Amino acid sequence: MIRTHHCSQLTILNAGEEASLSGWIDSVRDHGGILFIDLRDREGITQIKLDPKNEELAQKFDQLKPESVIQASGIVEARPEETKNKSLFTGEIEIDVHSLNVLNISKTPPFTIDASSDKVNEDLRLKYRYLDLRRPTNAKMLRTRHNTAKSVRDYLDENGFLEVETPMLFKSTPEGAREFLVPSRMNAGEFYALPQSPQQYKQMLMVAGVEKYYQLARCFRDEDLRSDRQPEFTQIDLELSFIDREDMYQLIEGLMQRVWKDVLDVELKTPFQRMPYQEAMDQYGVDKPDLRFDLQIEDFSSTFEKSDFKVFAGAVHSGGVIKAFNAKGLADITQGELKNLESIAKTLGAKGLAFIKAQNGEWKSPILKFLSDSEKEALKSRLQIEDGDLIFFAATKWEQACNILGRIRLESRDLLIARERIEIDPNDYRFLWVVDFPLMSYEEEEGRYVATHHPFTSPILEDIELLDTDPKSVRGQHYDLVLNGVELGGGSIRIHQPDLQQKVFEEVLKIPAEVVKSRFGYMLHSFQYGAPPHGGIAFGLDRMVAILTGRSSIRDVIAFPKTQKGQDLMTDSPTPASQKQLKDLHIKTLPIAKTQQNS
Ligand code: AMO
Ligand code: AMP
Repeated sequence: MIRTHHCSQLTILNAGEEASLSGWIDSVRDHGGILFIDLRDREGITQIKLDPKNEELAQKFDQLKPESVIQASGIVEARPEETKNKSLFTGEIEIDVHSLNVLNISKTPPFTIDASSDKVNEDLRLKYRYLDLRRPTNAKMLRTRHNTAKSVRDYLDENGFLEVETPMLFKSTPEGAREFLVPSRMNAGEFYALPQSPQQYKQMLMVAGVEKYYQLARCFRDEDLRSDRQPEFTQIDLELSFIDREDMYQLIEGLMQRVWKDVLDVELKTPFQRMPYQEAMDQYGVDKPDLRFDLQIEDFSSTFEKSDFKVFAGAVHSGGVIKAFNAKGLADITQGELKNLESIAKTLGAKGLAFIKAQNGEWKSPILKFLSDSEKEALKSRLQIEDGDLIFFAATKWEQACNILGRIRLESRDLLIARERIEIDPNDYRFLWVVDFPLMSYEEEEGRYVATHHPFTSPILEDIELLDTDPKSVRGQHYDLVLNGVELGGGSIRIHQPDLQQKVFEEVLKIPAEVVKSRFGYMLHSFQYGAPPHGGIAFGLDRMVAILTGRSSIRDVIAFPKTQKGQDLMTDSPTPASQKQLKDLHIKTLPIAKTQQNS
């Protein structure tokens, strides 16, 4: 037998038994009289020992380098009391090896296979991802990911959901992100698109009478990548018929309770908090607030409407707002940190980042001379300013002011954490439903309304009449599930009436009739054959596992992730296609400018 046990199993109760283990050499130690090997497999580590007087064993031992693969058989023995390792499950025993099989010798790996390699350059780890994944922290991550997926499947199965696979070769969808196109050999000059999500197929499954669908669905979006975005990622995607928003909240709160219980043994309290979009933006400056710390934003537009400070009064007069928040205890911000925040604000379109420091019993600020006593008093009382505080202001259009202070609030949090003035408990899970999003927003560049979520989201019924008169004030039946500042998922109750869907496409979103026909014709058509009322949601599985494993980037929880530039460094993809391949696909490529190639 190649193995009788895993390297995590043997204990003092097995002493005296014969055992065979197989795995990788974690480390070797030559203790003069005895040779020790820590043998590692997927499950754990067991110490084995070889007697160097056994010439055959000693000879084999000499070839062994870390990460070589061996099979060892011997007798389980209790370790001498003083050498027992209490922190290891198998730490009370070792195996006295009588036969050793060298299955494969390893070259010296480019980094050590342990937690210390967390600090190794990520590109190197991705190039050797098969070694990186061998590290116990990553092996554990893969298991947590598996457990999460299993927990989701178990829960949905118990709730009557069917897992249905939908095509990867699809066509363009209107969900906003740029798509990956796939040329069709059999249909010259035509292209599939990889799905950004199974949105349209899952709605068709509702028309088909499936009633409860789910899929752990691979999705593709050709977006600029960040720590929480990959070009291909996995959604926990679901859709149900005959439900309303309340049913959905209950179902999903149950799902989260189940996953947190199964994976972390944590009991989540339900119902989750709910917050309208407007309130999230006003108080936290984002639609995915992190509720684990305060630093709430306040509106001072009416305070400064008639101010002598022209920057503020002017902003209000031209339809904007004055917003401010108290970065409590941050008055000792350094000049460099302040400059950095200012440049962040400027990348978001701010003209400046006005501030007031309350320090050593006085206020210091470049704008202090412009402020009246009553303005100062209003700031002091509403922001509860005390010595040691730092106040930031944004004076511009509402949405921009929210974005700027929302970001500065998060940056201030990080500065306060570094100073140990805010403490964030990693086991504090603040789930939040963000609701009542505007159904659409006006896109200045395109000169038309675009769907905030996607064009299939149903308006809140009492707002439907406003579609004709005041589209931007129509709220959608859209909900996002936010956890600690991360958008875990989002979905909506859909439009299921063909005439309302057509009106939204053509009259409200102003999508040309022929585009509606070619992209969504089949959908509108299908709705005429008894489409049930339905709704759904999709969660980023990668984002969920990142939170469950305490990782800051979703790259860390994907077996083979892509870099920020969308490359797979292990397989060295993407690569150019051969002339023959291109010809078969009826494709001609343009010469690539050198600068573009290098950028
Ligand atoms: P949405 O576009 O909000 O909705 O996506 C749902 C969730 O998918 C995750 N996600 C991503 N994760 C990693 N990398 C990406 N590039 C990425 N993009 C999105 C997020 C997000 O909340 N069809 C709708 C859902 C519906 O209406 O049912 C949809 O795709 O966690
Ligand atoms: P100024 O009078 O233009 O020099 O601005 C005085 C202070 O207000 C400076 O600290 C600027 O960074 C800041 N400031 C200018 N415009 C804005 C704005 N729109 N919002 C917030 N602060 C601003």
